[in-house]
Amino acid sequence: MKSLLIVYHSVTGGTLQMAEAAATAARREAGVTVRLEAAAAAGPQALLECDGYLFACPENLAAMSGVMKDFFDRTYYPVLDRLQGRAYAILVCAGSSSASPPAGGCATSRRLSSSVPTHKPPKKSCVRSR
Ligand SMILES: Cc1cc2nc3c(=O)[nH]c(=O)nc-3n(C[C@H](O)[C@H](O)[C@H](O)COP(=O)(O)O)c2cc1C
Repeated sequence: MKSLLIVYHSVTGGTLQMAEAAATAARREAGVTVRLEAAAAAGPQALLECDGYLFACPENLAAMSGVMKDFFDRTYYPVLDRLQGRAYAILVCAGSSSASPPAGGCATSRRLSSSVPTHKPPKKSCVRSR
């Protein structure tokens, strides 16, 4: 059994909607358990306990939202060198500037992926849902 951790931050509900849709889809897969956790409440233990990750947040001021940044700030050292090779993907909910991301992803996804202490590239970068 593989476990997927979905960490999300959402203020007006767009990212939450995307994260819940992803969780619903992942739960349909055989052999996968899904944990959906708010970034403000999630900590390093959740990262260590799961096999793969989906990080979902709004793009705020051309960067990941502050609460998601705080999640990475809090968990970076506790998991450093302990998550190598684990798969992850990124969902970005943006108002406009991520509508046509350049190849390689928007600014937020680049910052997100450079914040994740694993060596595998993300499976997805920018997604605009609103
Ligand atoms: C402070 C702030 C800054 C924002 N900056 C950006 C931005 O740089 N680019 C963009 O496309 N949208 C920006 N937005 C819009 C949000 O990304 C968008 O409304 C998103 O859907 C919010 O996600 P949520 O519903 O999960 O909170 C910003 C919103 C706020 C509140």
